[in-house]
Amino acid sequence: MDEISRINLLRQQLHEHNRRYYVLNQPEISDQEFDALMRELQELEARHPECFDPNSPSQRVGSDLNHEFQQVQHRRPMLSLANTYNKEEVSDFYNRVSEGLQGQPFKICCEMKFDGLSISLWYEHGRLVRAVTRGDGVQGDDVTENVKTIRSIPLVLPHRDDIPEEFEIRGEVLMPWESFEALNRERAASEEPLFANPRNAASGTLKSKSSAVVARRRLDAYLYYLLGNDIPSESHYQNLLLAQQWGFKIGPQTRLVSSLQEIYDFIDYWDTERRNLPVATDGIVLKVDSIAQQRSLGMTAKSPRWAIAYKFLAEKQTTILREVTYQVGRTGAITPVANMDPVQLSGTVVRRATLNNEDFIRRLDLHIGDHVFVEKGGEIIPKIVDVDLDARDQNLGPRVEFITHCPECGAKLVRYEGEAAHYCPNDANCPPQLCGRIEHFISRKAMNIDSLGPETIAEYFRRGIVRDPADLYEIRRDQISGARGQRDKSASRILQGIQESKNVPFERVLFALGIRFVGEIAAKSLARYFKSMDALMHASIDDMLQVNGIGQVIAQSVTTWFQNPQNQWLVERLRSYGLQMELSEQELSVHSDRLAGQNIVISGVFAHHSRDEYKALIERHGGKNVGNISAKTSFVLAGENMGPSKLEKAQRLGIRIMSEDEFLQLIENPTQL
Ligand code: IVH
Repeated sequence: MDEISRINLLRQQLHEHNRRYYVLNQPEISDQEFDALMRELQELEARHPECFDPNSPSQRVGSDLNHEFQQVQHRRPMLSLANTYNKEEVSDFYNRVSEGLQGQPFKICCEMKFDGLSISLWYEHGRLVRAVTRGDGVQGDDVTENVKTIRSIPLVLPHRDDIPEEFEIRGEVLMPWESFEALNRERAASEEPLFANPRNAASGTLKSKSSAVVARRRLDAYLYYLLGNDIPSESHYQNLLLAQQWGFKIGPQTRLVSSLQEIYDFIDYWDTERRNLPVATDGIVLKVDSIAQQRSLGMTAKSPRWAIAYKFLAEKQTTILREVTYQVGRTGAITPVANMDPVQLSGTVVRRATLNNEDFIRRLDLHIGDHVFVEKGGEIIPKIVDVDLDARDQNLGPRVEFITHCPECGAKLVRYEGEAAHYCPNDANCPPQLCGRIEHFISRKAMNIDSLGPETIAEYFRRGIVRDPADLYEIRRDQISGARGQRDKSASRILQGIQESKNVPFERVLFALGIRFVGEIAAKSLARYFKSMDALMHASIDDMLQVNGIGQVIAQSVTTWFQNPQNQWLVERLRSYGLQMELSEQELSVHSDRLAGQNIVISGVFAHHSRDEYKALIERHGGKNVGNISAKTSFVLAGENMGPSKLEKAQRLGIRIMSEDEFLQLIENPTQL
């Protein structure tokens, strides 16, 4: 067999193995065998660039190249569903349908309401050509490159007579609980903000600019609506079953019923059973099955008359409070944590829940042994929402009293005026604060020393190797390479990572210091305004208030931080190790406030600079690069081939379109604005 035929065969086989694994959950070959076939395909494709196929199974790994999303108009608007919350409203819907159909018999397709974000997929000649988010229902973002990395979405369909030449299929992109929890564990470890729920995680991921990130995050998709001019069946349910045979993942819970009672049974069953599903659901969707009947029922302005959503109540459980423990964060903030008897909540076992702060505990009059209601609504961290006072008996333990001293270092806690949280003021010696500051220092958005992680830092801290961030630059190989040098390789990596961090730009060094209230953006603004650590150290509060986005709270916090001799010493040591203490030449040379307050959309292909360079230019001149055109857009920086829908929208909103040359002139000479 020649190499080209082999490529085609491998592609076919890999598509099928993909489907068996991700859609049917019935793999036929081992992961190793799959990887071997994939590697073979990748090697052959590399040798035959002329055979490139955007829908090849090898394209599922995504790319790190940044891309902008083009706005695309939906061929048919994406409507939403009217919600119901109880059986009476469901029965009203059923009766309305029955009346609307003038007594004709009808069937209802019952489906899970998946809690992710909706997606519209376009197929032409058996190939995925476009994937678009719902957007505002009329137009959405073209996220095709990202969607291709979702393994359960077929890129190429089998050859079958019943597949229309062109069709649209809609469904929900989701992040399964398992991926969601793993992702948040990872983010917690690198101090990145956690996603509140799988829906936010899925939507954040799908809108990521790097499809390689999407590929790593393991999204899934369930399809629930087939549309087109020549779809195979007059029954919605039959269409779904066919789509399943074409390789799409359909909710296996889907049932066709013909009475109100059967609908109730479906609701009752899944109301509890949904907790065992691998993905989040927030209700049930009921659809009239016959497409002819759907047509005759029609739509209101917002939603079809032939379908409705029944929403589950937020999930709540009761369990018993056994103990309250307290966590100390990097800033010294104390979080009270309820430790409870384990309880099943939305598919996971919950043992701990947040209690927020002292006032909250008081308000509940919380006692050890109380029966508490735990909720995992939208949030990832479960919370206690109430106490069942009627369930109290003689076994009730003592009332929960907020601690007065730090559980880690014993310092007396303080509570600042106007704040709900308690703090441990011993920032110079309290171990979790010291450790937390080093973890923040190395985190991705700060110094990005990714050869080190929180566990390693904790170990070095225990062994007395590091107590503050500057100690990192004093680590010797013999301290970390193991007694017999068995960790030599990882020691080299770690030392190299630490060395490389000396090139991290000043603004991130400033962020890395972990000054209270100085986040990424404040650090950037301060760095650009003052240009050096020295200038910032000597700045007064009034000086700082001149900076865009800096208010009293941040200015005060920065001043206090620099007044502390220990912090001054830290900065001097970091300086002596060669960290960047001022803006680089390049950043200094082209920087102004010329575009301050301007929201600028970049679109099209450019001749003089790359898109990324324009983005950097905009930021260096104080402007903001935004993704989508809206009424708030100041102007569009347009290159060649600006997307037609963007152009149309800009014109409709009367937003100025600026050419590349005009823009370059503008940053030289801002009076033209
Ligand atoms: S059908 C015209 N079916 O719920 C019918 N939607 O408010 C349009 N959803 O935007 C949708 N599971 O994102 C349908 N089985 C299901 C669904 C479902 C989740 C979402 C979808 C839609 C929203 C409706």
